[in-house]
Amino acid sequence: MLVNYLSYLITEVPIPDLLQGWYHYGILSDLLGDGIFAVDGEKWLHQKKVSSNELTTKIVKDFSSTVFKTNALKLARIISEAATCNKAMEIQELFMKATLDSIVKILLGIELDTMDGTNEEGTRFAHAFDVANEMTIYRYVDFSWKIKRFLNIGSEALLRKNIKVIDQFVYNLIKIKIETDNSSEDELALKKEDIISRLLESQETDPKYLRDLILCLISAGKDTTASTLTWFIYMLCKHPHIQEKVAQEVREATNLEDSSCIDEVAASLTEEALEKMQYLHAALSETLRLYPAVPLAGPRICIGKDFAYRQTKLICAVLLGCYKFKLSEEKKVAHYLTKISLHIDGGLYVHASPRP
Ligand code: HEM
Repeated sequence: MLVNYLSYLITEVPIPDLLQGWYHYGILSDLLGDGIFAVDGEKWLHQKKVSSNELTTKIVKDFSSTVFKTNALKLARIISEAATCNKAMEIQELFMKATLDSIVKILLGIELDTMDGTNEEGTRFAHAFDVANEMTIYRYVDFSWKIKRFLNIGSEALLRKNIKVIDQFVYNLIKIKIETDNSSEDELALKKEDIISRLLESQETDPKYLRDLILCLISAGKDTTASTLTWFIYMLCKHPHIQEKVAQEVREATNLEDSSCIDEVAASLTEEALEKMQYLHAALSETLRLYPAVPLAGPRICIGKDFAYRQTKLICAVLLGCYKFKLSEEKKVAHYLTKISLHIDGGLYVHASPRP
């Protein structure tokens, strides 16, 4: 609460335009380096061009749809297990893991697998990334952060420790990518679908530049999409007739029988089928209007908008095509928690039951 109030006060304090960039850079650059969120001017323009170009290229679009589908299926199987035992599950954390696994696979081509927890190093990176983000945002309300950084104590010591874990993980992956790229004799044999492999081909080989770009895109794409999905499921539980309409639309757009299994639903989710789901699109947009995932939104335009809609629509279509969701405590009202994005305080506990 105090953090919410202070962050409100801070955003209301006028900072002269010329100092804004310098002020944010000071706070964000330890974690995000010279990535798109921390910089202005030429550097920002360059990163914006590179990132939007990559996110809209056909190869990356096709690859990302496959990744979204694979992870939506994994999510559906986890939900299926809980549904079989009639067990409540905390779905916000599951969405956070699913969106992290997806963005890391699309950026780096590796399986982080935080959903099943099979990659120990990946799980350590995911935890370090969350802590480092939180400690970085905390700087906006902690006027003593520079002294703490100098003395390496408290939140700043925690930040430094976690940035070290992040850097080790990311730089190691970049090194492996560069070595694989150089040693590949038959270029055609290696399918270069992930963003870093593609950038290496276009001669963007500076590890620091790639590290900053990766961390900014993970920051941009993970919690935002996951918290939107969580609020959406919350809204559908509060308005069951809308949940039914969305499920009905999924069946119609995919021409599926009521008895279709999870794999059949996922396989039928083509670009054309998703395009037909206008009601789902509108319901997601209304959720974003009511619960904006980026509550303190600056003046820039989101370059991942289509990417985020494709991912949320695909996950929702798989889940709502196969399951009915109910809040574990039906009367419970969700409250928000402002982090870098708008989370549900305490998570969202739901029960799922298979659709007949
Ligand atoms: C529901 C999901 C999302 C929401 C609500 C959202 C919202 C926003 C907002 C409000 C901004 C402007 C921030 C500012 O002016 O300071 C922004 C910027 C940005 N978003 Fe998103 N975003 C989402 C998903 C994504 C995804 C999935 C990606 C990429 C994978 C992405 C990449 C970016 C980038 C790179 C910027 C910075 C653009 C710039 O500096 O010019 N976003 N987003």
